[in-house]
Amino acid sequence: MKLFITGANRGLGLALTTEAVKRGHTVFAGIRSPQKQSDALNHLSSLFPNKVQLLQVDVADELTCQTASEKLKADNTTLDAIINNAGILDERSKTIEDIDLDKVEQTFNINLYGPMRVIKYFLPLLHKGPDSTIINISSEAGSFQNAYGGDYPYALSKSALNMFSEQLRKYLKNDGVSVYAVHPGWIRTDMGGEKAPGTPEESAHGIMDIMEKKIEVNCNSSFINTKGEAMPQ
Ligand SMILES: NC(=O)c1ccc[n+]([C@@H]2O[C@H](COP(=O)([O-])OP(=O)(O)OC[C@H]3O[C@@H](n4cnc5c(N)ncnc54)[C@H](OP(=O)(O)O)[C@@H]3O)[C@@H](O)[C@H]2O)c1
Repeated sequence: MKLFITGANRGLGLALTTEAVKRGHTVFAGIRSPQKQSDALNHLSSLFPNKVQLLQVDVADELTCQTASEKLKADNTTLDAIINNAGILDERSKTIEDIDLDKVEQTFNINLYGPMRVIKYFLPLLHKGPDSTIINISSEAGSFQNAYGGDYPYALSKSALNMFSEQLRKYLKNDGVSVYAVHPGWIRTDMGGEKAPGTPEESAHGIMDIMEKKIEVNCNSSFINTKGEAMPQ
């Protein structure tokens, strides 16, 4: 399969890229800035030179999404999966009285408009059929039922991402394309911190199983965990 993964430089995006190439897939690994390419991604692409192809995509920059998609189109590349993984978590401890609305806007620009930009430009490259998948990496923070009265920019952007995923699921239903908003669990990355109980590798394993249809997802909404089980709305 051919996949496009955003935010492949570190954390879950790197783990997804690693798991995918180990399973024999080809990954177009989106990196925000080539100047900041991680040693780990460099190492992975040297181990799998034909399986990892780097694409400069800053999901906050529409032109980079357009340019990267045009490059794939020029090479007659079709995709089997798009994984919108890039995300940020900001203004963690801020109350609504203290919130910086520019930071809220920046979070929406990456966590919601980012996946929208990516889908706008990469959906035409996606093979339409039951083997194709779009996975938006969401969070339990986006669940209405589990709202905890904090992380305003992040939680609101992930709620909206869940709605975007649901809209896309309906839009692509007749094409057979599966669309999911996946909560990856609380995992040890720069974002999740050292106290997180899970690893990005475990999450990547589950997400790849969902993409490969090894896990059957039986649920009426797109919002699921890495075992394919429904998340609380
Ligand atoms: N970690 C958790 O416990 C947890 C829990 C629930 C959901 N999630 C979700 O899982 C996803 C991955 O998170 P993570 O834990 O791996 O975070 P992370 O370790 O902070 O990594 C974030 C990744 O996103 C990339 N990124 C940020 N802004 C970008 C932009 N404008 N364009 C392109 N790439 C950009 C970063 O690129 P650079 O390296 O260039 O900065 C980095 O590769 C996120 O959507 C997050 O919300 C994580």
